[in-house]
Amino acid sequence: MPAPHVLSPAPKAAILGGGFIGPVHAEALRRIGVEVVGVLGSSPDRAKPFAQSLGNVTIYQDLDQLLGDPSVQIVHVASPNSLHFEQVHQLLESGRHVICEKPLGVRSFETASLVQLASSKPELAAAVNYNIRYYPLCMEMKARIAKGDLGRVINVSGSYTQDWLLSPRDFNWRIEPDGGSNLRAIADIGTHWMDLAQWVSGLRIEAVFADLSIVHQTRRCPAGPSETFGGWGGERPTVPVKVSTEDQGSVLLRLGGGARGAFQVSQVFAGRKNRLWLEIGGTEGSMAWDSQEPNQLWIGYRDRPNERFERDPALLSTAAANATHYPGGHAEGFPDTFKQLFLDVYQRIANQQLQNPTYPSFADGHRELLLCEAIASSHREERWVSLS
Ligand SMILES: NC(=O)c1ccc[n+]([C@@H]2O[C@H](COP(=O)([O-])OP(=O)(O)OC[C@H]3O[C@@H](n4cnc5c(N)ncnc54)[C@H](O)[C@@H]3O)[C@@H](O)[C@H]2O)c1
Repeated sequence: MPAPHVLSPAPKAAILGGGFIGPVHAEALRRIGVEVVGVLGSSPDRAKPFAQSLGNVTIYQDLDQLLGDPSVQIVHVASPNSLHFEQVHQLLESGRHVICEKPLGVRSFETASLVQLASSKPELAAAVNYNIRYYPLCMEMKARIAKGDLGRVINVSGSYTQDWLLSPRDFNWRIEPDGGSNLRAIADIGTHWMDLAQWVSGLRIEAVFADLSIVHQTRRCPAGPSETFGGWGGERPTVPVKVSTEDQGSVLLRLGGGARGAFQVSQVFAGRKNRLWLEIGGTEGSMAWDSQEPNQLWIGYRDRPNERFERDPALLSTAAANATHYPGGHAEGFPDTFKQLFLDVYQRIANQQLQNPTYPSFADGHRELLLCEAIASSHREERWVSLS
């Protein structure tokens, strides 16, 4: 049976960050019956439109004021990456459940300490929002591979490509070095791909060989804030900024069980708006999925016709059927993945089942930081780098 859409009673939530993705969290929470009681932005003024869109909820002046609000039991962290560590640390210390946007932080020694802190508080949910796992057909791929439908997995490959930073006049906080591995395309979208590829295939990336490049050595930074996916903002005055984070990259992979693979990321690939492509080859067959056509799965065979499987709850494995709420032919997409991930977390909170979570954990988030650091070292030193 599919999980219920609406939780009752649900813990009350607050959201940090009201840019592109904070409102996506708020919308998904409304759909499952969770009340958002307050928001925190870079300033009260910038948070105002977001708070108003939620019915004039509280605008916190700072994190301390949020921490002092006893009505807040769970916090969604949707602020820029370099703020995650400090904010998540304080939230967990204060006894709040946390759902943090990816990446969990920008330095692995910090995310390691968050993993430790979370494990010392087993009564709290500590999730990272790798939402792409919650597309029903990604769950279906995982279930079929675990069942052995592909035989032994021998190849895991794909890409994540976007074009919103193609022009040298495109700018966003992501372009600035983050003070950690200082990766951008890999940290921002490559971590989504690596999380999904490992989770679906059931295989860990054990070693990487990376080649990264900067297409625009200088970009024009608009005076004042620029929104994610916001374009260059017309005729606003700009200043030149030297770029040190990669626009694109290719990474060769060695995975568990002897499997091999590769992926590429680009934020400057014309026409690819936001496309994650994952294909997994096995000794008995293969499967491929495209995030821009998320309700279709390609299944390949050597000795019989290939298949195109359309999402239909009646034909899905149990895990995938539980994460789909619409009949076949009624498209489910990006916003639904947030709803499904949040339902998973909030139901486990309600049932006090926070051990061995099915949702992406802080340990998963930390693993992505280790991968980023390995990729940065590999590129710098032009060699294979293993993960311990
Ligand atoms: N899971 C996904 O699909 C997905 C998609 C986009 C972004 N993200 C992640 O979400 C996070 C935010 O990205 P975005 O695209 O929404 O960025 P954005 O720039 O559009 O929004 C960031 C928001 O954070 C606010 N902010 C800045 N300083 C703050 C502070 N000290 N406390 C609280 N809020 C503060 C800003 O005012 C702004 O509203 C990033 O970590 C990003 O990686 C995830």
